[in-house]
Parts: sequence; structure tokens; C-alpha cells
Amino acid sequence: MNIAVFCSGNGSNLQSIIGKVADGYIKAKVAVVVSDDSAAFALKRAKKAGIETLVLNPKDFSSREAFDREIIKALRKKKIALVVLAGYMRILSDHFIKEYRNRIINIHPSLLPSFKGTHGVRDALEYGVKVTGPTVHFVDEKLDHGPIILQKAIDVKDDDTEESLLERVHREEHKIYPEAIRLFVEGKLKIKKRRVVRK
Ligand code: GRF
Repeated sequence: MNIAVFCSGNGSNLQSIIGKVADGYIKAKVAVVVSDDSAAFALKRAKKAGIETLVLNPKDFSSREAFDREIIKALRKKKIALVVLAGYMRILSDHFIKEYRNRIINIHPSLLPSFKGTHGVRDALEYGVKVTGPTVHFVDEKLDHGPIILQKAIDVKDDDTEESLLERVHREEHKIYPEAIRLFVEGKLKIKKRRVVRK
């Protein structure tokens, strides 16, 4: 199975996926890394691993959909069966979501449906929750909303800062994202309304 990983930034989740493909835990190929930011460190990681990259500048397109249509063309050519969003900071158009319905997954750094949006860790810490952690979910038309595949709870410590908590959340992300991808690739996930169950 060919997968595409979409990144806008550091790409530590991409790195964990590359590692889990290399050691055979995920039996799929990362056929392309897509980015909307030519400065994303994730692109360096991709190149180092010998993975093809596709970088598009949103400013070169008249609309969100036009941008996404260009990406879809490339994904079709590569016969991409799963789109993995890993720190991709751009909202997908409804057209893209329709095209890859139930074949797009995302990782979010809080226990959804709590603390949606860009600062999931900071918002959880400031709210004062005692437990937080990452969520892997299918992507639908609403932000951070689709059916949940995996979550991992982490205790918040009294002396946690955003940085220390983020570090522990990332550590767990790097475990549950490859696990979710493996389950998808092996055809073990079934969506029943909002619930994702194992086949
Ligand atoms: C992760 O914390 C993920 O939950 C969020 O964006 C971050 C990406 O980090 N969606 P990285 O680029 O994989 O290091």
C-alpha cells in the first residue's frame, strides 16, 4: 500500500513513521511527503530517507480547492491509498475530503473532543486537566472531529510546563500513530457511525 504523509513543520511523527516502515512494523511505502511550506524540516527528513517530496505554495493557487486538486493529481499518479496528516497546518477542502473519504487520518495532541485547534497541549494545561494525551482520528469536514481510532492518556504533573508536557505527548504520538497506520494498512479498522472498531 502506498501512503502519503502531509507535513508543515518539524516532522517528528513523519520520522517515527519512516522508522516503523523501515523495520517492517508498517507494511506500506511512504510514496510521497507533501508540504505547503518549503522551509519545513520534515522535507529534510524525507529527502534523507530517500522519499519523494511535493511542495506547493498556497499563494500560487486561486483557492483552497485549486491547491488541493493539484495535490490530488499527484496522489492519483502514485496510487495513494492512505493520507496521513502529521503536523499539516492547512485545512483540507471539502473536495479533498470527499475524494479520500475514510482514507485520511490525523493526529491531534489532546484527548478529543477536548481542546481542538492549534494549541491542544497549551490549552489543556491552562485549563487544568489532570489527564491529557494524543488522539488519532479519521478526518471529516469538521475540524478535529472525525471518528477516533486511538487515544493515549497521560497524567499531567503539578510541575509540568507546556514544553515538558508536549515532550511526553510527542513520545506517545510516536507510538500510537504508527500503530493506527498499521491497523489501517492491515485492513483491521471498521467505521460504525462515529465508532472505529477492530475487524
Ligand atoms: C503534533 O503534536 C501533532 O499532534 C500536531 O502537530 C504536531 C506535529 O509535530 N497535529 P511533528 O511535526 O510531527 O513533530
